[in-house]
Formats: sequence, structure tokens, C-alpha cells
Amino acid sequence: MTKLWGGRFVQHAEEWVDAFGASISFDQQLVEQDIEGSLAHVKMLGKSNILSEEEVIEITNGLKILRDKAKKGELEYSVALEDIHLNLEKMLIDEIGPVGGKLHTGRSRNDQVATDMHLYLRKEVKEILEAIATLQSVLVNKADQYVETIFPGYTHLQRAQPVSFAHHLMAYFWMLERDFQRFEESLKRINISPLGAGALAGTTFPIDREYSAELLGFDGIYENSLDAVSDRDFILEFLGDASILMTHLSRFCEELILWSSQEFQFIEMDDRFATGSSIMPQKKNPDMAELIRGKTGRVYGDLFGLLTVLKGTPLAYNKDMQEDKEGMFDAVKTVKGSLKIFAGMIETMQVKDANMQKAVSEDFSNATELADYLASKGLPFRQAHEVVGKLVLTCIQQNCYLLDLSMETYKEASELFEEDIYDVLNPKTVVARRNSAGGTGFAQVEKAIEKGKTILEAKNL
Ligand code: ARG
Repeated sequence: MTKLWGGRFVQHAEEWVDAFGASISFDQQLVEQDIEGSLAHVKMLGKSNILSEEEVIEITNGLKILRDKAKKGELEYSVALEDIHLNLEKMLIDEIGPVGGKLHTGRSRNDQVATDMHLYLRKEVKEILEAIATLQSVLVNKADQYVETIFPGYTHLQRAQPVSFAHHLMAYFWMLERDFQRFEESLKRINISPLGAGALAGTTFPIDREYSAELLGFDGIYENSLDAVSDRDFILEFLGDASILMTHLSRFCEELILWSSQEFQFIEMDDRFATGSSIMPQKKNPDMAELIRGKTGRVYGDLFGLLTVLKGTPLAYNKDMQEDKEGMFDAVKTVKGSLKIFAGMIETMQVKDANMQKAVSEDFSNATELADYLASKGLPFRQAHEVVGKLVLTCIQQNCYLLDLSMETYKEASELFEEDIYDVLNPKTVVARRNSAGGTGFAQVEKAIEKGKTILEAKNL
């Protein structure tokens, strides 16, 4: 097929070479944005008297026909035409004749592709914001039901101090809130127009970049034409934000997987979010959580892929940059899919609160409380720690827990112990008393849940 840029060529690449260079198999996902960008560009060409009114009408109508066909899935792309931009330009010319060739006046594929990607990410980031908020609200609702459910808090994956299960869930709410903020703030840098930067240096035509930017709903234009066509920071930033979000989801997945195990038995995944084994009839595997944990690696790969692609490229556009797209599409799809599955998993999972309760009554996670008790009666904390450490050792030797020791044993350890320690050691009291700001005390957790709800209500989605 004759190339749209074939003028200076004598020979043509063979099909397999074309296929290697082509991006149409994946950049056809930008069809909507490419047409939207072209509609704004041609309108601007008319307003700036670069094209006649008639030409603008013809091109606009042609583009609208292509837009309709795209919506119906009727466009047939050709690998020989390389990418979405050249495919659409050829289709436009086929549709309305040579006047279609005037659309590309005063622009280049370099500013065109950058514009498409800005428009694409703007749309997708908004959808991701909604998906984050949905998961946040699932978490808040779940937390609301389990404020008084106590389960072991861990450090080093060793039982540390009991916490409210709601407090644990809300920890993820706040991580997601920061993810939300990061994506939201990134829109500032995504919503800038590269259109009109030309191939790299601007154009001789009297174009109006502000006008086309405004038509496309951008907040402003790139100040420098070289930067406009070379910048992929906005994609890197997106992939960075996506990686952090996935890290949060992945850590949560790890916990859900542990909690679902026979060893923990703190939750059970709903059947709809679990799978069985083809050989072991008893199995119920938390596959979806494992898969999200695995897909986190993919998104990191997308980020590192693009960082590596860009690091050695001189200004301005280089064909390397065509490699920016697949990772971006992949990360968008992965993040959206993961968030949606996650909301479903959390909403439907069964919380085995009796097992959680049992767990905290059969451990030493109330030991700090005992040390604090002595410290509050004036014993230096370091000494209190030692006294309680010895009591824990006694328990281990006698195969019992702190609540099982007699008053006599306590008195022997320290005269400061009184009968009230049995109440102090009760896991519920332990949790309730951690009432410092942001702590797991029930009053604090309730406050946090209310704050979370207010934050969600204020989101303008
Ligand atoms: N398909 C190309 C890409 O995705 C479009 C830009 C091509 N520009 C060029 N000068 N070859 O990066």
C-alpha cells in the first residue's frame, strides 16, 4: 500500500517489516481520542482562517462519520498504515476526498499522539478515582459492622497487641485515600495540551493552541514545543501512582490469603470469589486475591518498562516512544479490574469474628497492657517490661495465659499488682483503652469511620 508519507521513498518495506513497526494493533484503543483531537484541531484551523469554512464543514462531517463507524465497530484498520493516526487520515480521505488531506495542516503525529494519550489518561484516571472511592465505601461499611470485633494485631507477623478489626480495615481506607489524592493531583499535569507543538518546533501556520486546548477541555497548553512532544512524565506518574495503589492492594491480598488459611481462619472468601482444585476436592483457594497480588508485578513492570524506554532518548520524538502505550493500557486495565474485584471480595467475605475473639484470648497480646499498668503505678517502664516478660515466661512454662495466673503469682512478681489486673488484661479493655488519636480504641475507630464517610460524601465524582 502506498504510504501517506511515501513521497521521498523509492522502495517500500516488506509486510513483515511494516508489521514490526506498526502500533495499530494496540493504539486503535485511542480512536475516540484521536477523532476528538482532530475535531478540535480542524475547528481551530477554521477559526484561524487556515482552512475555509467549507473545508472545515467537510472534514468535520467526515470525522463524525468515522466516529459513528468507530462506535459501531465498523472501522477496518490496516497494518500497512502503521498507526491509528494514519489509518484515520486515510479513511477520512476515502470518505470525503482529497480535502481530508488538509486536516493534518499545522500538526504532526507527534503532537497528535501526545494529545490522544493526555485525553485517554484523563478519562481513565477519572474512572479509576470512582473505582477507588467505591472500594473505600465498601471498606467503611464493612468497618462499621466490626468496630467491636477484636482480633490480633501483628508486628513481624507475631501477635503484638489486639486491635479492632474495623481499625485494620480502616488502615486500608486511608492508604486508598492517599492513592485517590495522588491520582486526583496528577490530573493537573495530565490535563495540558500538547496539540499544536507540531513535530517538535511549532508551525508556520497562525494556529491558536489556546483555542484547541479549550475545545478539548484542557486547563492549559505546554509552554515548550519540544517538551510537549517529548514528555511522557504524565504516563510515568500514572504508572507510579498505579504501582503504589497496587502495592496497597497486594499487601491487603496477602492478609486476606493468610486469614483464609486453615491456620488463621479469620475470614472465608465468598464462593463467588474463590476457586476449587481440579484434584483436591476439599480445596477453596483465594485465587482472586492471589491474582491481584501477582498482577501488582505486572504494573511494576509497566512502570519500569517505560522508565527504561525513556532514559536514553534524546529530544524530541523517537520511535522508542511508541513503546509507551501497551504498558499504559495494561496498567489501566489491571488497576480497574483489580479495584472492582477487590470491592466484591471485601463486600462478600465472611468475617469469622468468633475465631478472631478466640485468637486474642489465647495469646500474649495483652502483655503490653500489663507493663503499662505497672508503669502507670510508677515503676520505670523498663523494669515493668522485665517483670511482665518473666510472667510471660512462667505462663509458657505452665502452658497457660496471663489471665490464668493467680493473684498470688502476680503479687510475687510485683506488689503493685491489684485485683483489677484481670479486667485490665481483658482484650476488650485492652483495645478500648488505646484511645489516643488514631489509635484502635473503639471511640477512635468510630470517629475515623465517621470521618471516612464525610470524606466520601465530599468527593465530587
Ligand atoms: N505510532 C506512533 C507512536 O505511537 C505515532 C507517532 C509517530 N511519529 C513519528 N514521527 N513516527 O508513537
